[in-house]
Amino acid sequence: MSNTIQKDLNYKKFVIDSKLQYFKPHASKIEKTFAEEIYSSLNRNSKFITPKFFYDKKGSDLFEQICTLPEYYPTRTEIAILKSLQTELPMYLDDTFRLVELGSGASVKTRIILDIFATMQASVEYIPIDISEILAESSEQLLKDYDNLHITGIIDTYEGGLEFLENYDDKKNLIIFLGSSFGNFSPNEGKSFLQKINSTMKPNDLFLIGLDLVKETHILESAYDDSQGITAQFNLNVLSRINDELEANFDLNNFSHYSTYNEEYQRVEMYLKSLTSQSVVVSKSNLLLHLEKNELIHTEHSHKFNLSQVRNLLASTGFKIHHVWLDDKKHFSLTLASKN
Ligand code: TRP
Repeated sequence: MSNTIQKDLNYKKFVIDSKLQYFKPHASKIEKTFAEEIYSSLNRNSKFITPKFFYDKKGSDLFEQICTLPEYYPTRTEIAILKSLQTELPMYLDDTFRLVELGSGASVKTRIILDIFATMQASVEYIPIDISEILAESSEQLLKDYDNLHITGIIDTYEGGLEFLENYDDKKNLIIFLGSSFGNFSPNEGKSFLQKINSTMKPNDLFLIGLDLVKETHILESAYDDSQGITAQFNLNVLSRINDELEANFDLNNFSHYSTYNEEYQRVEMYLKSLTSQSVVVSKSNLLLHLEKNELIHTEHSHKFNLSQVRNLLASTGFKIHHVWLDDKKHFSLTLASKN
C-alpha cells in the first residue's frame, strides 16, 4: 500500500457541495481532557493555564475586540503590510498556486490574500487547517462573499493537516501563518514547528509568516494592557470558563490581569495575579487550590523578534528567504520563504 493511500484512509471526507468539502481524521489522538490539564497545570508550585483555553465563544469575541484596540498595533499593522503587497506578492505566484492557511480565517487578512489570488486566477482554491469546528462557520461566510472560491477544510492540528497536505496532491501551496501566534511558542517549540512546516513543504511551495518585532517597552506593555481593560477581561475570562465548565468557584474580583515586558527574553509575559490569600475549588478536576496573596498564574508569553533573529530563525529551520516586508515604523514583519 502506498503512503498516500494509507494517509488518506485516516481521514473521512465530507462533501458539502461542489465548493466546500472537509477532511477530518477518523480517530483523533487520545488527548487529556480540560479537567485533567487544569488539574496538572494548577496543582504545582509555578502555576499556569494553557493559552489554548482562552478561546471559548466569549474569549474569541474578546480577542476580536482586542484586535481593534488603539493600543493593540499587531493586527492593523499586519493588515497594512498585506494591503501593500497587491502588486508584489503576485510576482512570486502563478495561477497554479493555492492558498493554505494555518488557523481558519474569514478575517480581513485572509480576504486580502484571497483578493490577490482572485486577480490572477479564475478559480481560487483555499485550504484552511484548523482544529476547531469554527472552520465550518468561517468557510461558509467566505463562500457567500467569493464567487469563484473552492474550499477544502482540514479539521486537524496544524502538524496533522500539513502531513495530510503533503500526501494530497502536487499542486503548489502558499502556506500562510499570520498574526502573532508564532510568538506564543517557546523558542524551542517555535523552531520545531518551523522545521515541521519545512519538512512537509514541496520545493515550489511558499511560506508567508507574520512575526512581531521588538520595540519600545511602553508600546509593548500597553498593547497587552489596554486602557479600556478589554485585555484584562480576556485574560480573566479563562477563570469564568473554568467556573462554568469545571464547576469551580474562582471569584474574579480576587484576581487581576498582570502583564510585563521581559527584555532579556524579549517577550510580553501575561499572568493572573491572586489579590488575596485564597482557596478555590475546581470540582471536576478534583482540585482544592491554595493561592497566596500576589501569587501569579502564568497564562501566555508573546515573544518579539529583531530582524536578524527573524532571518536566523528561518535560515536555521531550513528556509530560504525571498523577502521580508515591514511597516513604516518597523513594528511588524511578514516574511516570504521557501524550502532551502
Ligand atoms: N496571540 C496574541 C498575542 O500574542 C494573544 C494575545 C493578545 C493575548 N493579547 C493577549 C494573550 C492578552 C493573553 C493576554 O499578541
